[in-house]
Amino acid sequence: MKVEFYGHVRQYHNIKSEIDQNISTVLESGQYVMGPMLKRFEGELAAYHGTKYAVGVGNGTDAIWLALMALGIGPGDEVITHPNTFFATAEAIWIAGATAVFVDCDPKTKCIDPTKIEAAITPKTKAIIPVHLYGQCADMKAIKAIADKHKLHIIEDNAQAIGAHGAGFKIGQLSDAATTSFIIQKNLGTFGDSGALVTNNEKIDAATRRLRNHGSTARNVHSFGFNSRLDDLHAGILSAKLKHIDQYNDERRKWAARYTAGFKSAKHFTLPHESPGYRHVFHLYAIEVKKPQTRDGLLKFLNDSGIDAKTHYSIAIHQQAGFPWRKGARIHGTLTHAEHNAATCISLPMFPELTEQEVDYVVAKTLEWDGRQS
Ligand SMILES: Cc1ncc(COP(=O)(O)O)c(C=O)c1O
Repeated sequence: MKVEFYGHVRQYHNIKSEIDQNISTVLESGQYVMGPMLKRFEGELAAYHGTKYAVGVGNGTDAIWLALMALGIGPGDEVITHPNTFFATAEAIWIAGATAVFVDCDPKTKCIDPTKIEAAITPKTKAIIPVHLYGQCADMKAIKAIADKHKLHIIEDNAQAIGAHGAGFKIGQLSDAATTSFIIQKNLGTFGDSGALVTNNEKIDAATRRLRNHGSTARNVHSFGFNSRLDDLHAGILSAKLKHIDQYNDERRKWAARYTAGFKSAKHFTLPHESPGYRHVFHLYAIEVKKPQTRDGLLKFLNDSGIDAKTHYSIAIHQQAGFPWRKGARIHGTLTHAEHNAATCISLPMFPELTEQEVDYVVAKTLEWDGRQS
């Protein structure tokens, strides 16, 4: 049996008529960049988040550095995040010209550990970027309390958790802005690149709108900016898919629960942790082997069995060759939990269109490996 890691084509087939209809609407409109479909999708995205504004941009990385720039954060400033995330979180800080400060993650959730943030703050610190890693929100209430005390901005890197919420808080509610990525494999993914930010802050909305479009909101009038726009074809695809996002996330949660129930007897790896009161949307179902030296063996065994398991992310950012490439970077304290996560993580196939047979096969093969360990 073969089990793929992603189900993009299955998803397309399931709602083909809705996607094709929106693509056709855009093509027939003759307006492909900054057109009516983008406007419509931005309205839908803001409504979905319950925020005043949503701004579509070129990708999820741009959304982060555009948010930083919109807040005036750049050279000489420090931004705190954690190193067991996709590279883009730190890359965006460097693109903005700021210094990335890495603190450890929480050993259970793998999101930034709020108890590690305060000691890393200096007079240069301007913002915190928590990542809602794997589909679960970071502890935003604790992060917000620290940010308020030290007058820091918060940008949520929400590339992986659209549709999630915390215990008593929503994404975008306790921060200056939440950014997201719509690259193919995300919970809300298009057939290519794009991203967005949502915010309740009128200034961030206005600045990002200018910056993404050559510093312009009116024809022939410019200030310094970039070209980073979400084009209307992708907006149309995303508009069709947004209507299904809660159901897609429910499906992911169903498969996660099936994995977790199936792995009850497992002795040699640990399972994802869902914090009480949180809605984890399982962008990834990431397990951790108990002995780091066994990780690559499990990965190979699964791959050889036809299961497209992967790792997210097996080299933490500060462990990448050449780090920090003459960019500003500081490590505060130990990064033991982030390094453990990098050394032990394995992501199992996870997408809404999986079947029971596929999930059960992954469970059976993973347990077969588990039973052979001593
Ligand atoms: C946590 C995180 N941040 C940022 C990004 C960057 O998004 P993009 O690839 O759309 O630039 C991604 C995904 O790719 C991500 O997973």
